[in-house]
Amino acid sequence: AWTPARGTEIIADHLALEGPALPIMHAMQEAFGYVPQDAVPLIADALNLSRAEVHGTMTFYHDFRHEPAGKHVVKVCVAEACQAAGGHATSAKISEALNCGYGDTRPDGQVTLEPIYCLGLCACAPSAMVDGRLMGRLDDEAIEEIAAEVRQ
Ligand code: FES
Repeated sequence: AWTPARGTEIIADHLALEGPALPIMHAMQEAFGYVPQDAVPLIADALNLSRAEVHGTMTFYHDFRHEPAGKHVVKVCVAEACQAAGGHATSAKISEALNCGYGDTRPDGQVTLEPIYCLGLCACAPSAMVDGRLMGRLDDEAIEEIAAEVRQ
């Protein structure tokens, strides 16, 4: 779990790199599952950047989560090919089935739902990634499968 001491350690491990901000954030996300808001001032001080700059970097990259994720993570592709294949209706159905909005973690902590911009599975659009597993050709049955997985 996140502690400022652990955060400081991660920063120190990457300080020698050129352009250490992104590697530090990636390492934090790997260690804690997200990049805590409390890490922003630590990174800013260590790299001699303003907090606004660090915050800007953190929010520019959609990869970084700002809060701990739910037990399950569902990423639904909202990029062009998936949209063209009915992805808009599909993404709305998934949100409804999971009872969770995009960018949110459900209050019971079971699931985090996120939009993603192309999973490289355009030929099988619309597609999603459920707990790291790719799923294509999302139909009602597949959506029910996702909902069942999230209930576990
Ligand atoms: Fe959705 Fe490529 S656009 S997987």
